[in-house]
Amino acid sequence: MPVPVTNEVVPGEPLIRFENVSIGFDDVDVLRDISFEVGAGETTTILGESGSGKTVLLKLAAGLLRPNSGRVVIMGHDLVDMKEVELLDFRRRIGFVFQEGALFDSLSVADNVSFRLHEESVNADEVETRVRQSLRFVEMEHAYDKFPAELSGGMRRRVSIARALIDQPPIVYYDSPTAGLDPVTSQTIITLILRLRDLNGVTSLLATHRLQDAFGLANFVFEPGINRVVPIWEDADGKHFAPTKVLVIRDATIYFQGQTTDLLKSEDPYLRQFLA
Ligand SMILES: Nc1ncnc2c1ncn2[C@@H]1O[C@H](COP(=O)(O)OP(=O)(O)OP(=O)(O)O)[C@@H](O)[C@H]1O
Ligand SMILES: [Mg+2]
Repeated sequence: MPVPVTNEVVPGEPLIRFENVSIGFDDVDVLRDISFEVGAGETTTILGESGSGKTVLLKLAAGLLRPNSGRVVIMGHDLVDMKEVELLDFRRRIGFVFQEGALFDSLSVADNVSFRLHEESVNADEVETRVRQSLRFVEMEHAYDKFPAELSGGMRRRVSIARALIDQPPIVYYDSPTAGLDPVTSQTIITLILRLRDLNGVTSLLATHRLQDAFGLANFVFEPGINRVVPIWEDADGKHFAPTKVLVIRDATIYFQGQTTDLLKSEDPYLRQFLA
């Protein structure tokens, strides 16, 4: 059963907008003059080598870091102007799947998933209903009473997705959701992300250094009618795409921005090396 998503967005309007965003630490630029937009219901894959600033970019988009200059506008709100208390409220409306999952080892799966709801004083019956609904979406309801240590890496990743979905956010950020997983398990994670995009209209940023993730998201759609993922074929005018773009970060700037089909056609030596 799909997790319904709060629909407070206008289709086609950019939900995520970075305008000339720069950030650095100790006089070293990590991101410099980054501008891009993500429309409602779209996914943008952020590709880059280790240390290129992918996590920093997601944290900026979540208001967990503030830029040195530029604007980060999410759902029409400029995060740069927000006070800390407003940011806390804002963060409740987005889902964040942290790198490595970041589950609390001392808490059960159910308590990990419901963590946020306790801050919102939701009653116990409602908490259980929502936790089960979220776990069912990632096919992990059987692990309700288990602890993270009892789960495989792929299962833990699914639980962290369930946790990010608990408040039915219109925006989800995934930080390297397939890192360290085998190809089959990675594909189940990408399929979940496709379901959220295509069934629930979730807008997202996905950081990865795996090119397969970018192609998996760009070349497939989830078909609700048949309840499975099907490939997308480029039509005659080459305009039939999944709602997914790619952004490659290199040397603190956007090195490439566009469709995966254009990435494939690129003659640029660095991109060719990345593709190889
Ligand atoms: N809070 C911080 N203070 C100082 N430097 C930081 C901080 N956060 C990130 N950095 C630096 O910013 C750079 C980019 O880090 P980031 O974690 O965004 O890389 P990444 O692309 O996510 O890498 P990976 O693929 O390994 O996860 C690194 O050089 C890192 O050391
Ligand atoms: Mg990272």
